[in-house]
Amino acid sequence: MKKKILVVDDEELMRITLRDSLIKEGYEVEVACDGEEGWEKFKKEYPVLVLTDLKLPGMDGIQLLEKIKSISSDTIVIVITGYGTIESAVQAMKLGAYDYICKPFILEDMVLLVKRAFEVYNLREENKNLKSKLKESYKLGDIIGKSEKMQEVYRMITAVAKTTATVIIYGETGTGKELVAETIHKLSPRKNKPLIKVSCAALPETLLESELFGYERGAFTDAVSRKIGRFEMADGGTLFLDDVDDIKPEVQVKLLRVLQERKFERIGGTETLQVDVRIIAASKKDLLDLVKEGKFREDLYYRLNVIPIYLAPLRERKEDIPLLVEHFIEKYTKPAGDTKKEISPEALEVLVSYNWPGNVRELENVIKRVVTLCNKDKITPQDLPEFLQYQKQPPKTIQEVVKESEKEHILKILSQTKGRKKEAAKILGITPKTLWQKLKEYGIK
Ligand SMILES: Nc1ncnc2c1ncn2[C@@H]1O[C@H](COP(=O)(O)OP(=O)(O)OP(=O)(O)O)[C@@H](O)[C@H]1O
Ligand SMILES: [Mg+2]
Repeated sequence: MKKKILVVDDEELMRITLRDSLIKEGYEVEVACDGEEGWEKFKKEYPVLVLTDLKLPGMDGIQLLEKIKSISSDTIVIVITGYGTIESAVQAMKLGAYDYICKPFILEDMVLLVKRAFEVYNLREENKNLKSKLKESYKLGDIIGKSEKMQEVYRMITAVAKTTATVIIYGETGTGKELVAETIHKLSPRKNKPLIKVSCAALPETLLESELFGYERGAFTDAVSRKIGRFEMADGGTLFLDDVDDIKPEVQVKLLRVLQERKFERIGGTETLQVDVRIIAASKKDLLDLVKEGKFREDLYYRLNVIPIYLAPLRERKEDIPLLVEHFIEKYTKPAGDTKKEISPEALEVLVSYNWPGNVRELENVIKRVVTLCNKDKITPQDLPEFLQYQKQPPKTIQEVVKESEKEHILKILSQTKGRKKEAAKILGITPKTLWQKLKEYGIK
């Protein structure tokens, strides 16, 4: 561990005393006799801690402190102040000094102060390392998640990004299929080439065909000029085919050919075009099921299903929820320049226990809404949308309602009779034995 200290003082006796006693404690000590020398030594040695007198000839302790803090805010600076000039010590603290000590001081006090400062420093460093390590392994690009399922997704993405293999991403709505496709593209050697997206769900068959392959002028009545298709646009880059499970049989045939040969013609055209396109597909449904139902061509299935990546629904990886919540709070707080809001443990519990049918997108929307609407620093369960607050209590049965009000009524009568059970039973119109049974059942003491 680095334990380097720089002592800056113009009094020789002070310098020597401080140096010797700190060396005895196992520190590595450099000394300087004025601000300029201190600054030069600081830049050369990068000590963890600087111990400086405030009153120095030339550049004084405050100036030195400012310079150090401007290039290295983590360095611990302790200032020594003479003749009770507490104002300059206060100023030093404001400028980021860790602490100050007044002359004359007892050496042991000084050593103790230094020791403590190092402890604080080490803790801070350790914390920083831990946090950045955690943060790194809990994300890939813009994808957040610590669950084993997401870690597996990261491994897949990293591995396939280097290749041109066709990838298909399966997952429910809002699980992050498009985000994964974008991440693969960004991590691939094609990152500087276009990523072109086509939604196969939004378009009717003929339109999808012309979107994908383009058309020549006069190919049909409305074709007043040539249109370039998405396959051509994506040349050299990546084509993201969203919702492939929705592609109708006729387009499936044409798609199969491009996937096999990377060759196609524009609609109404005779020229055969060759493209270099990496395909990433996404599907909400299991394509194999569709194949079995006769809705999806088996040959196309095998062309697409080369490397499948499965995104689990959020309810199956709840350990990702706290991280995602923090991520979205940050995402939606920043633009307004507000101070970051915190989520209370109770509110987080509500979020974790919900089953999120709309997955990460739904969670993102909830957090966005809460961050926008809540004007407190702490987000509590009351700040969450109502549908989340009531989800913990499933609708009650008649029996439950009856029991609840029975219990409430018994408690009321018991308090009226000041706990006298015989009297209460009489008012309630039941035998003392029945009352005793009910008290036991409801856990009333
Ligand atoms: N693991 C994640 N980390 C951070 N953000 C995520 C994650 N997963 C999804 N998101 C965000 O949630 C939103 C929905 O994700 P995306 O559009 O990729 O989902 P999808 O699976 O394509 O959904 P759909 O099937 O409805 O099109 C986006 O804003 C995306 O950035
Ligand atoms: Mg999508």
